[in-house]
Amino acid sequence: MEAGYCNRKKTDGICEGVCDSELGSKSVLSMSRLKCALRGFDLRVLLILLIGVPILIFAIYVHGQKVTYFLRPIWEKPPKPFTIRPHYYHENVSMANLCKLHGWKVRETPRRVFDAVLFSNELDILDIRWHELSPYVSEFVLLESNSTFTGIKKDLHFKENRQRFDFAESRLTYGMIGGRFVKGENPFVEESYQRVALDQLIKIAGIQDDDLLIMSDVDEIPSGHTINLLRWCDDIPEILHLQLRNYLYSFQFLLDDKSWRASVHRYRAGKTRYAHFRQTDELLADSGWHCSFCFRYINDFIFKMKAYSHVDRIRFKYFLNPKRIQHVICEGADLFDMLPEEYTFQEIIAKLGPIPSTFSAVHLPAYLLEQNDRYRYLLPGNCIRESG
Ligand SMILES: *[C@@H]1O[C@H](CO)[C@@H](O)[C@H](O)[C@H]1NC(C)=O
Ligand SMILES: *[C@@H]1O[C@H](CO)[C@@H](O)[C@H](O)[C@H]1NC(C)=O
Repeated sequence: MEAGYCNRKKTDGICEGVCDSELGSKSVLSMSRLKCALRGFDLRVLLILLIGVPILIFAIYVHGQKVTYFLRPIWEKPPKPFTIRPHYYHENVSMANLCKLHGWKVRETPRRVFDAVLFSNELDILDIRWHELSPYVSEFVLLESNSTFTGIKKDLHFKENRQRFDFAESRLTYGMIGGRFVKGENPFVEESYQRVALDQLIKIAGIQDDDLLIMSDVDEIPSGHTINLLRWCDDIPEILHLQLRNYLYSFQFLLDDKSWRASVHRYRAGKTRYAHFRQTDELLADSGWHCSFCFRYINDFIFKMKAYSHVDRIRFKYFLNPKRIQHVICEGADLFDMLPEEYTFQEIIAKLGPIPSTFSAVHLPAYLLEQNDRYRYLLPGNCIRESG
């Protein structure tokens, strides 16, 4: 290769020298080689460098996050798997038999149930949630703040729309907590501050030992029959995570069944703390729905993207462009243009690209189907959102 290169440039004194010189010292030799190589640089190489390198840098800038996500299986081990408990249900099977199927005994009276949430702005989902749980809940506990987790001032949406929830008013313990508005702080700090306040509010609501306490985000909706089972059966675990079907944008896009953060606790004073992380290994299968980013208005998407604890995912301003957001919703694509958060290459690759549509609206929250005019945007085939 080198020889051929020299031959081609026979008239080139330096190159000839390099090839011919066997006497020259090593350093002189390599210097000459370098000069020779530089001369040999033709225009094509220069062009490739001038255009290619910036493109490469730009590509890394735009997709760097994807590369690290794709390589995640190398640098991160999956968490310990849950022990999944089978879940039995049919509306015509007696509670005694349902409890028995789970290895539990039926009680003479049901436990009291407290449903406690930190509220942001998801009014429609709250309406669907509370109607789903209403027949089984003794006390609704709701806390809202005038600050998002990311320290942005927000309206008190629940307070302003409280009359919409008249059906729950007699069983409602409402609390409002002022944000701390600390600039540049990790959003998880404000979040845990609000969760501690919610702990206080649950006590104010009158919770007692062995009452059931549901800990979940507003958009993690346990199915009514699941809560009914847990309040009627004795000997259920102290803490049980709920496996929920993971939907994105609406009940049209069923992502997987890997939502596990929601949990149900038999309350213990001084011991039970409101949390949204993993607290036990036990997971009850198919216990409800998790509908992420299920908003009516495009503006709610923009708000949530900014208020989210992962605000750093907005890498480019155009991510917040309403037209882009509408397109992403209809496609079932990712709002932050990220790769699936999985722990094996197999799963990442299986989930690449948009979420396929589901055409089943069977076994969804009853109130969603009853109020189908009002909640049409959440049902399959209705991806267009209202602006405003
Ligand atoms: C379920 O129970 C209802 C009322 O007890 C009864 O009318 C209905 O036929 C039952 N359905 C099935 C499938 O067994
Ligand atoms: C948030 O609420 C607290 C408590 O009511 C109040 O003192 C504070 O002024 C509010 N902050 C903003 C920015 O509205």
